[in-house]
Amino acid sequence: MLHKINDAVEFIRSKSTLQPRIGITLGSGLSSFAESVDVECSIPYSDIPHFFPPSVAGHPGQLILGNIGSNPVAILQGRIHFYEGHSLQEVVFPTRVLGKLGVDVLVLTNAAGGLNAKMQPGHFMIIEDHLNLTGNNPLIGPNMEELGVRFPDMSEPYDRKLISLLEKVMIQHKVPFSKGVYCGVTGPTYETAAEIKYMAQLGGGAVGMSTVPETIAAKHMGLKVCGISCVTNLGTGLSPNPISHDEVKEIGKRVEKEFSLFLKDFVEQI
Ligand code: HPA
Repeated sequence: MLHKINDAVEFIRSKSTLQPRIGITLGSGLSSFAESVDVECSIPYSDIPHFFPPSVAGHPGQLILGNIGSNPVAILQGRIHFYEGHSLQEVVFPTRVLGKLGVDVLVLTNAAGGLNAKMQPGHFMIIEDHLNLTGNNPLIGPNMEELGVRFPDMSEPYDRKLISLLEKVMIQHKVPFSKGVYCGVTGPTYETAAEIKYMAQLGGGAVGMSTVPETIAAKHMGLKVCGISCVTNLGTGLSPNPISHDEVKEIGKRVEKEFSLFLKDFVEQI
């Protein structure tokens, strides 16, 4: 695995000398944030050794290197998911490549379902903590000592200082948000009403099919992580409407501009 990571890093370095400080992963329907970047180079995933192109509509697949304000960034525009049939090690491969490229902050964004009535479509949730409900972990297997320790601490999966900064920026932008716990599941089914009730009782604020494995891999490597969920729908049973991926994409599109504005301000101030 380590040689594969190094292959990808070497290839990316052969395309650009930019040294990114911040990595950003863009979730479903949120990819137009990439327009906020002063782009130096974009590389389709299909060109990067050992990268997989995403198979889901709403997830373009390219790595963008550039600057936001004075911060050099590497943006993963689109991600792959466990439900596509990839192993969690494959899912977190691009995250590990960003870590090896030298980023020390990772900003993860996603679309998610709301677990209580406050979490209406268009609401944002700053991720304060997560529940790994996938029944899996990307670090299962021999530990790659070069990346991190066997038993990583998870007492602060989401960096408190980054949470405070993001909160300040979102207040300035008058964006509707709360802070809460992200429940990570495998999908691809949306949840049953009983599952949504269960997650709410466990203390969850939003549920989604990504982010948790990436946070785990990033923390393993010692990165600071910040996570933002865009609530695209209420969880099953909290609204009379069934959930569809089209609805998820449509809400993503609707809030994309607002999202891009506050995220750009946030990244500039990291
Ligand atoms: N559940 C899981 N993942 C999601 C949802 C949801 O309701 N909405 C967007 N991603």
